[in-house]
Amino acid sequence: MSNAPRPTVYIETYGCQMNVADSELMYGTLAAQGYDAVESPDGADVILVNTCAIRDHAEQRVIGRLGELRRHMKADTIVGVTGCMAQRLGPRLLEKARHVSLVVGPDGYRALPQLLDGARNGERGIFTTFDLEEHYEDVTPRRTDPVKAWIPVQRGCDYRCTYCIVPHTRGPERSRKLDDVVREVRQVVETGTTEIVLLGQTVNSYNDGTHDFADLLRAVGAVDGVRRLRYTSPHPNDFTPRVIAAHAEVGAVCEHMHLPMQSGSTRVLKRMLRRYTREEFLACVATLRTVMPSLVLTTDIIVGFPGETDEDFEETVSAVVEAGFSDAFTFKFSPREGTPATRLPAEDTVPDDVAGERLQRLIQVVRAQSREQNLALLGTRTEVLIERLARDGELLMGRTRDWKTVLVPGDASLVNTYHMVELTGTTGSTFTGAFVKDERASRQPLPMAG
Ligand code: SAH
Ligand code: SF4
Ligand code: F3S
Repeated sequence: MSNAPRPTVYIETYGCQMNVADSELMYGTLAAQGYDAVESPDGADVILVNTCAIRDHAEQRVIGRLGELRRHMKADTIVGVTGCMAQRLGPRLLEKARHVSLVVGPDGYRALPQLLDGARNGERGIFTTFDLEEHYEDVTPRRTDPVKAWIPVQRGCDYRCTYCIVPHTRGPERSRKLDDVVREVRQVVETGTTEIVLLGQTVNSYNDGTHDFADLLRAVGAVDGVRRLRYTSPHPNDFTPRVIAAHAEVGAVCEHMHLPMQSGSTRVLKRMLRRYTREEFLACVATLRTVMPSLVLTTDIIVGFPGETDEDFEETVSAVVEAGFSDAFTFKFSPREGTPATRLPAEDTVPDDVAGERLQRLIQVVRAQSREQNLALLGTRTEVLIERLARDGELLMGRTRDWKTVLVPGDASLVNTYHMVELTGTTGSTFTGAFVKDERASRQPLPMAG
């Protein structure tokens, strides 16, 4: 064996869970080539920044961070940019940042060891071709979360929402083979993880040529040891009757869903090319609630899309109420170069101050609704999976099946265990709770007093 020290790699991740999963794959690829993962950029031999291109703000953050990282570099540190911004900007990134020597898009991570070797010889490398076969099946991801496993089942996107850069940065949609997903789930469960989150841009359109998303839910739900099954993000149009029926059959599927609405106005939805009307979206919600009566729904909403009028915006507000969302990620429209929305007439542009006011109003509506729903839950008992120590270090942070955050007293030994908890307080968004003393008894009807 050689005594040469193993090179170290630090990866900083931005953007969505797909990027988090991809960073785990990059660490895995590099570990197989003799690299050690480190938790800080200081002194690392390789620094990779795994980026997001979804809004301009996300990109500006990365540009700023790339500048800062100079201060953490040794003379021979290699800096690479990966992910969606790398795919989008390609060679332009190398021009923008002289200290960056590799630019690698989401389908190129297999080439990382080779590109790093090149960079050591002073070469600057770019890999931004899409590979429709690439699922990194032979790479063992480096997982750091013992509680939850994020498992990509689909890469890319075949929708063409007019505001969205993802089809440009992630390429065409493709699904992993069901057997490969199930194999990975089995491996994960063997390590003691019981919560699985299936990932895809429109995850319920999953189709591996033989199996659809209904088959996938059933197959993953049937793996011994899977206790909680989630997925993100579904598209309303991909809820076929088969997929909906599977929800009633697979007990592990949790009673929370993140279902992006984007707008409550049919006129705006049409211009966004979301391919559903307000009524169709609300009908989808109603159907899902029929199959899962206790379903908690969260969503994504864009305000200030070109041409959005006050009336359109009011329709979004009323749809939030009608759909009964418990929370929402709300965004101001951000024009993305090359997307169809940038070709809408200039006079349709919603002034920034108007978009800002709508955003604030929407956030207030969402918060009030969430608060009202959460207050109604006080005093109820629910199953909590402990995820980690809370930020203050004195409490534990756990989650209910329906994705509520609960803080309970306890120590780190309880991480990755399930408990019955009574919800005792709420900030409006998160809860405090107390363990129910006799957990088995708590599931039995209470004896009559007297
Ligand atoms: N594939 C997912 C969305 C992934 S992007 C889906 O279709 O549901 C996450 C969210 O970012 C989107 O749901 C949308 O609300 C927001 N988003 C995407 N492009 C945006 C843009 N150009 N400006 C503002 N928000 C955007
Ligand atoms: Fe973007 Fe639409 Fe695809 Fe989601 S479905 S990733 S919003 S193009
Ligand atoms: Fe961002 Fe790419 Fe995800 S653009 S949201 S990291 S798919």
